[in-house]
Amino acid sequence: MLVGAGDGSSRQSRSSHSHYHGWLLSHTALAFVLAAGLGTRMRSKTCKVLHQAAGRPLLSHVLDLCAAVGAHPVVVLSRESEPARAVVPADATVALQEPPRGTGDAVRVALAATDSRDGVAFVVYGDTPVLRAETLERMRELLLERGAVLVLLTAQVGTDNSYGRIVRDEAGDVRRIVEVRSASPEERLLPESNLGAYAMDLAWLRTAAPRLRENETGEIFLTDLAAIAIADGERVAAHRADDPTEGMGVNTRVDLAAADAVLRRRVRERHMLAGVTFLDPDSTSVDAGVRIAADAVIARGCVLEGETSIGADSVVGPYSIVRDSRVGERCRVEASVIEGSTLEDDVRIGPFSHLRTGAYLERGVEMGNFGEVKNARLRAKTKMHHFSYVGDADVGERVNIGAGTITLNYDGARKHRTEIGDDAFIGSDTLLRAPVKVGKGAATGAGSVVTKDVADGMLAVGMPARSIRKYLRKPPD
Ligand code: UD1
Ligand code: CA
Repeated sequence: MLVGAGDGSSRQSRSSHSHYHGWLLSHTALAFVLAAGLGTRMRSKTCKVLHQAAGRPLLSHVLDLCAAVGAHPVVVLSRESEPARAVVPADATVALQEPPRGTGDAVRVALAATDSRDGVAFVVYGDTPVLRAETLERMRELLLERGAVLVLLTAQVGTDNSYGRIVRDEAGDVRRIVEVRSASPEERLLPESNLGAYAMDLAWLRTAAPRLRENETGEIFLTDLAAIAIADGERVAAHRADDPTEGMGVNTRVDLAAADAVLRRRVRERHMLAGVTFLDPDSTSVDAGVRIAADAVIARGCVLEGETSIGADSVVGPYSIVRDSRVGERCRVEASVIEGSTLEDDVRIGPFSHLRTGAYLERGVEMGNFGEVKNARLRAKTKMHHFSYVGDADVGERVNIGAGTITLNYDGARKHRTEIGDDAFIGSDTLLRAPVKVGKGAATGAGSVVTKDVADGMLAVGMPARSIRKYLRKPPD
């Protein structure tokens, strides 16, 4: 294997020491995460790395990656991207680059923020959310195997893009990276691009970074490191990505949509391999943080967002939105919208049910079409089949809520609660003017307007409803 002239001896002895090699592989690496750029091409008041792909900020994807390869992140932010600090874990190092003067300058700022002098340093951009941990691992191995000081990630991605171009010599070795902005027309046509993730020898980086110079664009390009390494007689290796979408950098909203699509496909495939059935997967969108148990079925046209979990053997969809909610086991959710809610096991809802924040449906609850539940608990086996609104309520077990029942929870100024006891029977078209309580085993007649509490076991009818006799419930057949 060709080893550069320069200071080759120390490197050679280093890489021939399997002891040292093993130490480097297992030793915690650093990851410089560059996220100080302005992101002007996004045309947004939100800084670029906080834009979301697969329901997570771009920067969070990159930080997950650092965690996956066991690298301690040093995150470079600027005044403009300062809000991104909110998604940086407390144990990460944050360095401020002010003003942002290019990716090379950003790495200098990162270097100044850490005491580490040797080992492996990854450099990743905060706008490359599609990069995979396996790829960084492979790059770290290459760095050590080849005794290189710099490993690039490259791919053949055509020439209609702004990626840096890889210039190789006759022997096929990397000589330098040329940015499109400074490339000659011939260089622009080079087929191999820099995907913008690097594994570096930190000790060498410390000597090389100060030698990066501002170029004609007024920026300091990190990519000039390749030429510096070659001039030092050091070795630069390149890892060609099998999947060129991996390095996909997000510069515009068009790129954002493309990265989102790649990540979401990956999320669906991860679930499928773990035992989840998707009927028409391309029609369904699942955020990265969603958990789905094996043997759940996600039918066509679903959107699963945020902190959501779906239990085993549940069927969700077709056409449902589940956001920040827990759906238990063996549930059936059809063409419904569930937000900030909990479904215990064996719950059936839809088609066209709407659960809003704070809805809690205990096991065996059934809820049919055009029903809305908000901030209310429906206890086990309660049924609410058609056209009802239950808000700010506590409904007991085995209650039957007749079609068109409405809790009048809002008096124009304040919200009030409705309580319905176990085994109550609410007649169709009942209006419950909160605060109000219907007792256990009590009933209301069709069309009644309940303004006063109904005692346990009584039947109340009329407008306003009066209790007329004991309620004798027919046993269900
Ligand atoms: C960069 C590479 C290019 C590569 C491409 C891959 C350079 C000079 N060019 O170009 O070769 O093909 O990524 O996606 O590195 N940033 C800072 N401080 C700065 C400037 C940028 O932290 O002063 C951060 C940005 O927030 C961003 C990342 O570095 O997350 C990359 O910067 P960007 O301007 O997007 O570089 P590209 O033009 O995409
Ligand atoms: Ca970029």
